[in-house]
Amino acid sequence: MPCNCCEITDNAFSEAEARSALKSYSRNGPANQTRLILEAIHTLGLKNANLLDIGGGIGAIHHELLADVADAATHVDASSAYLKEAKAEATRRGHGERVNFIHADFTDVAADLPEADIVTLDRVVCCYPDVRGLLEAAANHSRKALALTYPREVWYMQFGLSVINFFQRLRKDPFRVFLHPIAEMDSLIKREGFERVSLRRLFIWEMALYQRTVT
Ligand SMILES: C[S@@+](CC[C@H](N)C(=O)[O-])C[C@H]1O[C@@H](n2cnc3c(N)ncnc32)[C@H](O)[C@@H]1O
Repeated sequence: MPCNCCEITDNAFSEAEARSALKSYSRNGPANQTRLILEAIHTLGLKNANLLDIGGGIGAIHHELLADVADAATHVDASSAYLKEAKAEATRRGHGERVNFIHADFTDVAADLPEADIVTLDRVVCCYPDVRGLLEAAANHSRKALALTYPREVWYMQFGLSVINFFQRLRKDPFRVFLHPIAEMDSLIKREGFERVSLRRLFIWEMALYQRTVT
């Protein structure tokens, strides 16, 4: 798909937003939807795992999972502002050496990256037009588990995201938000050899955890 998605996404997340996200994480811990991913992954009882966090933002998932579930992580992100804050926080926490930070659209670099035990996409699919390409590449890279959060398919989210996109168009900013059909994402991941083992909902976000059943 011809799309300069990395550049568009990079421009969408400012340094000020990234700093504010890190400040909120430092004060309050992981956001509620991120907690759902973390709780779900902890139920799997994995240890010494490799983590691939796609679009990890300020890196809350690897900052947390490197404590007891993962030995090493790769954080691929299209936003240089978020990556900068994620790296600085990883260094402050003393696990900077255990995280490989990559500034890229994951679909552009996936072929060059190794598989991981756990793959996470927290609030990422809603920032990306080619959900099929992104989820197929993510699922192909997961040996054991895939966890993601995405906006709930309800009227108020359809309305909210269309308002955001209306203002994006007015501003002539090409970045858009997407409410991808949940049933299509679910079927796609299952076709890649996974079963859904957990599904939880908040007002805005839904979290699904998948485990690989077919290798
Ligand atoms: C809304 S932010 C969420 C950040 C973080 N996961 C969180 O929940 O706080 C979306 C993130 O996904 C990243 N992203 C979106 N599409 C991506 C892609 N195809 N490859 C890599 N990163 C992507 C953006 O750069 C951004 O960091």
